[in-house]
Amino acid sequence: MCGIFGAVSSVDIQKDLIEGLFKLEYRGYDSAGLSLISKSSKIKRIRCTGKVKELKKLLSTSKVTGKCGIAHTRWATHGIPNLRNSHPHNSGPFSIVHNGIIENSDELKLILIKKGFKFTSDTDSEVIAHLLASCVTKKKGLLEIVLAALDKLKGSFALAVIHQDNPDSIIVASNGSPLLIGIGKSATYIASDIHALISKTKKYIPLEDNELAIVSRNNVSLYNQKGKKITRSPLITKQSSKTVSKNGFKHYMQKEIFEQKDIIDRVIKDRLGSKTILPNIFGPKSDVMLKSIKHVHFVACGTSYNASLIAKYWIEELSDIMCTAEIASEYRYRTINVPNDTLFVAISQSGETADTIYSVKKAKSSNYKSILSICNVPESTITRLSDYSYLMQAGPEISVASTKAFTSQLIALLLLSTTLSRSSAKYSVEYEIVKQIKTLPKILDKTFELEKDMKIMAKQFKNKHHTLFLGRGASYPIALEAALKLKEISYIHAEGYAAGELKHGPLALVDKDMPVVGLMPDNNLVNQVLSNLSEVKARHGLVYIFTNKKMKLKKNDKTKIITMPACGHYIAPLVYVIPMQLLSYHVAIFKKTNIDQPRNLAKSVTVE
Ligand code: F6R
Repeated sequence: MCGIFGAVSSVDIQKDLIEGLFKLEYRGYDSAGLSLISKSSKIKRIRCTGKVKELKKLLSTSKVTGKCGIAHTRWATHGIPNLRNSHPHNSGPFSIVHNGIIENSDELKLILIKKGFKFTSDTDSEVIAHLLASCVTKKKGLLEIVLAALDKLKGSFALAVIHQDNPDSIIVASNGSPLLIGIGKSATYIASDIHALISKTKKYIPLEDNELAIVSRNNVSLYNQKGKKITRSPLITKQSSKTVSKNGFKHYMQKEIFEQKDIIDRVIKDRLGSKTILPNIFGPKSDVMLKSIKHVHFVACGTSYNASLIAKYWIEELSDIMCTAEIASEYRYRTINVPNDTLFVAISQSGETADTIYSVKKAKSSNYKSILSICNVPESTITRLSDYSYLMQAGPEISVASTKAFTSQLIALLLLSTTLSRSSAKYSVEYEIVKQIKTLPKILDKTFELEKDMKIMAKQFKNKHHTLFLGRGASYPIALEAALKLKEISYIHAEGYAAGELKHGPLALVDKDMPVVGLMPDNNLVNQVLSNLSEVKARHGLVYIFTNKKMKLKKNDKTKIITMPACGHYIAPLVYVIPMQLLSYHVAIFKKTNIDQPRNLAKSVTVE
C-alpha cells in the first residue's frame, strides 16, 4: 500500500517531506524513510521501522538537508516491516520509493543478481532501483533510462525516482497506483493523494496509467510510456486543508462513531425535500439514467461491501430490479456477463482501494449502462473514473476501522434504492422512507445511550477468544460488519452468519464460552432468529439479543436482552450497527489495543 511524498524546491524540504508523510500515514505505518540529494550531489537516505514520528525524531538529530527528495511510509507486502525493507531503496546513483506490487520481481531479481547487483532487502521494490541502474548507458538520458526500466516491469506501481547527478528533478511514473503532482509557487510536489498536497497547493495533475513525468521546481513534463510528450492542464482541487482533531474524544474511532448523527442531519438538509428525495442527487441527469436501470451490480471491499449487501435487500424489496453485490477482488478476475441496462456501482470510502479501482476500470470496458460511485473522498481515483458520483460528505475518516463511512454509505444506498424504486413502482414508499430517515437523528441519540450497556458487555467479551454475530435479512450484513469491527480492533476472532446457516456448521463451535449475538429488529423474521438462538441456548452458548420487539423474553444467566429504541423497518440497519461499533470500541479499550491504527492494517488498501 504505502504513501509517497516528494518535493523539489529552492529551499530545504525535510520538514515538507515529514509533513507530507504524516498525512499519508493512513496508507501504512510499518516503517518510513526518505532520500534527499545533498549539496554535494550525494544521495542521503534515512529510514526507520515504525511510524513517521520515529523518522521525524531521527531527522532532527541528523544533519541531512536537501532541496530535492522523496519519502515513503510503508505497509509491508513483500518482506517483514524492518529497516532493510524500508524505502527508499538505492542502487548506484538512484534512490526510489514505490507503492504497488511488482509481479515479475522474482524473475527480474535473478537476472539482476547474475549481472552482479546485490540485494539488501526482501522487497519487490528494490528490483526497480537495480533495474534502473542496470539500464544506465552513456548514450541514454535519465528519461530514456527510466523508460527502459519501466518497459521491463510488470504489475502496479506509483514510483518516484531521484538521481544524484540530477539534483533538480524527480521522475515519477504510475500504472494502477495513484500519484499526483502538485504545482506550487516556489516548489513542485508529488504525493499519493490530494490531502498530502492541499496545504501546499491546490493545483495538481493526476498521473494516468502508463504515464511518467519529469518534475522540477518550475516545470512538469508529462510523457507516455513511449516517451512522447503529452500536455494536460492542471486541475484545481476544491478541498480545503483543515486538519482533523479528535475534538476531545480519546480516539478518532470514538469521535467518528458519535459524528454519525451530524452526518445524517447533513444528508437530511442537503439531499431530502419535505417528503421526497431531491432531484439528481447522484449527479447531473442521474434521475433519467436511473429510470432506465433493470439490474444493479455493486462491487466493493470490506465494510463497503457489507453496506452493498444491505442495499441488495432494499433494492429487491422496493423494486423489480435484480441486484448483485460482489467483492471487488473476486469481480476483477472473473468472467462476467452483463445484461443490458445494468448499473455498476462502486462503493469506497477512500476512493483509492486498488481492487475497487481495477473493478471500475473493468466495468468501464464492459456492457454497463453507467458507472456510479459512492465515495467519501472527493476527487479520488474512483470518483474521477465514474460517470456519476455521490459524495458521502462524512468528512475525513481517520480511524482505520470504518464507522461513519458505513452509515453514510447506507444512507446513500437507501436513497439510491428508493430512487430506483420510482420506475418499477413495486411499492410507492418514498414518503415513508424519507419520513423514517428524518427520525434517525433522535433515534441515534437514544441508541448512543446504550454505550454504558456496551461497556458492561465489553467487559464480558474481553477475555473471549471467539464470537458469533447472527442476523437475518438486512441484519445479516450488520452481523458481518459487527464481526469485522470486533476482529479488526480487538483481535478477537469473530464471524457473522445468516442466522439460518448456524445449524449448517457453525453450531459445532458453540459451547459455554462462546458469546453469540443476535440482531433482531422487530420484523417478519423475529421468530426465525429466536428459534436459531434457542439452538445456541440448548448448547449452553451465551446469548445476547438486540431487539426492539416488545416480547416477553426472560432474561437469565445465559440470555441478555439489550433493548433497542423503536425504529422504522428501512432504517433498522443504521440503528443496529451503532451498538456493534460501540461494543468493539470498548472491547478494544479493555484490551488496550491500538484502536485507531490496528496491527497489520492500513486505512486505504492501495495494493491488491
Ligand atoms: C473495515 C474497513 C475496510 C474498508 C475496505 C474498503 O473497517 O475499513 O474493510 O471498508 O478496505 O475500503 P474503501 O471503502 O476505502 O474502499
